[in-house]
Amino acid sequence: MKVGVRVRRATPEDVPALIDLFEELEKLQRGWRVFTPRPGFADEVTRKYRHALGRPDVVVLVAEDEGEIVGMAHGEARTPSRFSDERALHLSGVVVRSDVRGRGVGRALVREAARFASERGVPWVTLNTFAPNLGSTEFWETLGFRARVVEMTASTKALSARLGE
Ligand SMILES: CC(C)(COP(=O)(O)OP(=O)(O)OC[C@H]1O[C@@H](n2cnc3c(N)ncnc32)[C@H](O)[C@@H]1OP(=O)(O)O)[C@@H](O)C(=O)NCCC(=O)NCCS
Repeated sequence: MKVGVRVRRATPEDVPALIDLFEELEKLQRGWRVFTPRPGFADEVTRKYRHALGRPDVVVLVAEDEGEIVGMAHGEARTPSRFSDERALHLSGVVVRSDVRGRGVGRALVREAARFASERGVPWVTLNTFAPNLGSTEFWETLGFRARVVEMTASTKALSARLGE
């Protein structure tokens, strides 16, 4: 990993830096969203991160480089299957600042998330990624993740036009 980078649990003082990174991710993903975010969405995210710091089933990690936050990851233990009681740590908000990508910071964040899951006996780690985000897909595949479910969307209007309704 990049020399000097340290991954640790986030503290309330890190929340502004978490929001900056979230905004970097949001800009990247904006063109891939189909559901329009509701007004106040960014404030909701700020509240979510603040609240997450006190929850035992949630981990918020930051990568710090010489006092600057250069990456983050959020993980929440859930029971994703309606047919199983097995838990999964669901990752979201995984982002490394663009100028330090490709130097092992993302891998180090996921390593800590895996440690959190392992210590709590959570047997799976899951995440969603946008299909056109090829860099992200390659990153996750390098770490051993494989696509399991494909969610498909069509707008009702386009579908109705196509089907002649
Ligand atoms: C995806 C992301 C978090 C990866 O972080 P990173 O610090 O650049 O990744 P690392 O340097 O730890 O790379 C780990 C491995 O993944 C591979 N990898 C990382 N990014 C890659 C890319 N864009 N294309 C191909 N492979 C990639 C690396 O080659 C490396 O493999 P190696 O260890 O065998 O050399 C980072 O690129 C990022 O923030 N992207 C924008 C936000 C995003 O898409 N987040 C994911 C949303 S689901």
